[in-house]
Amino acid sequence: MPVVKIIPAQSLVTDDLTLKDKNVVVVDVLRAASTMLVALSNGAKEIIPAESTNVAARIARGSGKNALLCGERNGKIVEGFNLGNSPFEYTKDAVSAKTLVFSTTNGTLSIHKSRYAKICIIASFLNFSKILDYLEELNDDFIIICSGKLNNFCLEDFVFAGAILNVLFKRNRNKNYYEISDSELAAKKLSKIFAFESGNINSGKILEMFLLCEHGQYLKSLGFEKDLEFCSKLDTYPFLPVFNKGVIKLRQHIEEEENKKKTFKKINLKDIPEK
Ligand code: MLT
Repeated sequence: MPVVKIIPAQSLVTDDLTLKDKNVVVVDVLRAASTMLVALSNGAKEIIPAESTNVAARIARGSGKNALLCGERNGKIVEGFNLGNSPFEYTKDAVSAKTLVFSTTNGTLSIHKSRYAKICIIASFLNFSKILDYLEELNDDFIIICSGKLNNFCLEDFVFAGAILNVLFKRNRNKNYYEISDSELAAKKLSKIFAFESGNINSGKILEMFLLCEHGQYLKSLGFEKDLEFCSKLDTYPFLPVFNKGVIKLRQHIEEEENKKKTFKKINLKDIPEK
């Protein structure tokens, strides 16, 4: 039976090798994971996550004209950066064909800590069903890492993790589909309260939770109330961002690139004249 673990805050991953060779789901529903998904869906070429703003600036400098510096500290755009962390900034016009070098307070730390993982996918309510489909297809152990807030627990990521488990169990008729323990049990129960109505996951309930939780209230105080509504919607961006070899790209683009390489190799071999 596959084993599922939820890590309730990224700060609990203290050793670089904890996530090595593991299947990892990084969650930061408010807002990094949601914003990255929107950026890639709107045509960004790739996202390079950086663990600090200085590292981000250095990477962007070496990445040429097509790179944009993106992200936030305490919810606000960083001085000298091109874009902040609101999904509304990441329009087609702003990001198409660009490399985004991204640094955020919590989300990019989780991603950075997953750099030795076997697979790492980036999850939010906006691609909820895509994450579920992928995990079902994977049919293996996985770890959900909740980014949390300022090295602490946050309600919204933990509830998201619980919601994923609830629906996975429901899809598999609640049999002992995965092995879970206390954190996972708690997340499942909590998500029923904060994200479900009449047995189904519900955007309205998620928005209510966002308006109640610490980070949601903080974002509202900064004038980002619209972001809360945007990030509460289910399955509006049905794509799968994958962190692989230091960059985040949509799974379909990674597969297209691999297929192109294969075709290219075939043509090359055929074209070599026999001696
Ligand atoms: C983060 O990574 O800490 C967040 O996404 C914060 C934010 O809402 O901008």
